[in-house]
This record gives sequence, C-alpha cells and structure tokens, in this order.
Amino acid sequence: MDIIDKLIQTHTLTGQEFTELIGMYEDQEAAERLSAEALRIRKEIYGNKVFVRGLIEFTNYCKNDCLYCGIRRSNQNSSRYRLTKEEILECCDHGFELGYRTFVLQGGEDPWYTDDRMTDLVSTIKQRYPDCALTLSIGEKSFESYQRFKEAGADRYLLRHETASETLYRKLHPESMSLKNRIRCLYDLKELGYQTGAGFMVGAPFQTREDIAQDLLFLKELEPQMVGIGPFIPHHDTVFADRPAGSVKLTIFLLSVIRIMLPHVLLPATTALGTLDPIGREKGMKAGANVVMPNLSPVKNRKQYELYDNKICTGEEAAECRDCLSRRMETAGFQVVSDRGDFQAETP
Ligand code: SAM
Ligand code: FES
Repeated sequence: MDIIDKLIQTHTLTGQEFTELIGMYEDQEAAERLSAEALRIRKEIYGNKVFVRGLIEFTNYCKNDCLYCGIRRSNQNSSRYRLTKEEILECCDHGFELGYRTFVLQGGEDPWYTDDRMTDLVSTIKQRYPDCALTLSIGEKSFESYQRFKEAGADRYLLRHETASETLYRKLHPESMSLKNRIRCLYDLKELGYQTGAGFMVGAPFQTREDIAQDLLFLKELEPQMVGIGPFIPHHDTVFADRPAGSVKLTIFLLSVIRIMLPHVLLPATTALGTLDPIGREKGMKAGANVVMPNLSPVKNRKQYELYDNKICTGEEAAECRDCLSRRMETAGFQVVSDRGDFQAETP
C-alpha cells in the first residue's frame, strides 16, 4: 500500500509519511488521486453546496506584532480604522439582504474592543438575526472572555494556530507571543463548545516540509470543525517584504489532504489563494474546499485591512463580491447556498 492509499484508508499518516507526501506535491498523478478522493468525500457529505460567510473586517488596530502581517503594531504606515457598532450592524443588515446567514467579525487584537463592547456587539447581532451564525476571529483571549462571548451568542471562532512547530513559531513572532498560549486558546474554545477553526499559512518564511507535517498532525489531534489554510503573501511594510509567496499548488494539495484527514471539516478556499491565482478559489473547491468568505466590510475601509500585498476584492461592493463568487462557483460546478452552513458531525 502506498502512502496515498494509506491516507485514504486510515485518514492519517506518521510525521515522516506526511513529510514524504508533502514532497510529492508537484507530482500531478499524486495530486489528482488526492483531489479526486477529497472531492468524492466532500460531495458525499456536503453535496455540491458551497457555504458563504460574510466577512466583516471591523478593526485593523492590533497590539500584536506578528512579523508577516501587514497590520502588525509596528507598521507605522498602516492607516488604522475601527468600525463603529452602527457600521458593523449596517454590514450585517446588508449581508442579510444578500442572503448571508453567517457573519464573521474579524480584526486585529484591538484593546478598544473590550470584552464588554464585544459582548454587547455579539448579543445585539444575535438578537437582530437569531437564525444567523456568528463567528469571531479576534485573536487570543482568556477562557473567561471566550466564555462571555459564547454566552452572548457567538457560535464559532477562527484562530489559526499559524504553525505547530515551536522553532518556526519563534521565527515568525515576537518574544511577547507564545505558541503554548495559542494552543491553549484553541483547546479552550473547543471545550466551550465553539465550532473552532485552526490553520496555518503555506510557504511562510523558513517553513519546511517537516513543519507542515507537524501542522497536519496537530490538526488531526485537535480535530477542529474548521481549517483555514492559505498561501503566505509578502507585505511590503514587513520584515518579510522580500520573501517569496507560498505555492498555490502546495496549498491546493494540502486542501485535499486535510479533507481526507478530517472528512466533515468546513474548509474555505481563501482570499489569499484567490489573490495569487485568478481562479485559485475555484481550484480549491475542486480539491475539497466547501466554504468561501466574501468581503462584507465597507468599501471605504477595505484597502486598509491589508494583511498582504495585492489583496483582491478591495474595490468591490458587497453585492458585487457575492455575485462574483456565486458565478465563479457555478462555473466550477458548485452552488452557493443561503444557509448557516454548520459543521455536520454525521453524514445526513
Ligand atoms: N487577529 C486575529 C488572529 O490573530 O487570529 C485575526 C486576524 S489575523 C490578521 C488573520 C490571519 O491572517 C492570520 O491568522 C494569518 O494566518 C493571516 N495572515 C496574516 N498575514 C498574512 C500574510 N502576509 N499572508 C497570508 N496570510 C496572512
Ligand atoms: Fe470579491 Fe470576486 S469575490 S469580487
């Protein structure tokens, strides 16, 4: 039995086998075998449905200083903004009209948005839209804070682990941050009953195949309901400005591997993938992804939420973005649905 058969039959591999498999990403036959199986699984569980999440990038203030990120604290050239509660609610109103049934509030770690303000925001949105799911993506907090947001009505939380390798983590983050805390957060979120999302960047500076193998083993152990992976893309105002972007091919290969490892997972084809390849998100869908996250942020602020260079969808109105993605998905043979798109633990 070769390692692809082994992955398909057992849904996991050893670290060494994962490393070997990752080394095969340019082998077209291997990639096709993986994507055929990933697509089969995805269709069996989710049909040809694509779930959409309305992404509201509500603040680009951040107290952290991740070396790769365009909105890191030490980037003096970033023009900072913060949406008001009213502006956020307008985004939700508009999104609801457009058929969104999941809103994602994402931002830097902005101390102005205290737990009281976040709790108030979450409960207001949930009261106004009881049939919508609300996802938070606002970084590392205490168990108590996560608990308050959950009690206020938050359903899901996205927190990429970024890398499961301590050595690589240290090369990508300042001393003040720790991998241990990030992983603690993910286990807290799961314990509190959030549908939890982890993930990592593909092709981050210094990343090796062994590092990615470690990420895959970590995902298998954590068993998150969502996994977000996208290629690293340099940002001109960071220390990694001159680093090459991650590989689209490898990202797509890994989407298939993750679908096979975690068959029920909610797996987005990310904006970063669409940024590096004009049909990257369509390719992601065909390789096992089942989620897209169109931008619902006000057009006036979109360029300011610049995590990396040349980010797509920064000039489009919410409706244009939604229509564009629906068309793209249809062309690729999928159908965008107006549905909360919850994790399905059992095949219906
Ligand atoms: N502050 C929250 C957090 O840390 O989880 C959410 C916002 S953070 C900007 C969202 C994600 O953007 C990160 O988890 C990271 O993986 C991704 N990201 C940041 N810089 C990037 C870059 N240069 N290329 C690709 N993705 C990047
Ligand atoms: Fe935003 Fe195409 S998805 S414009």
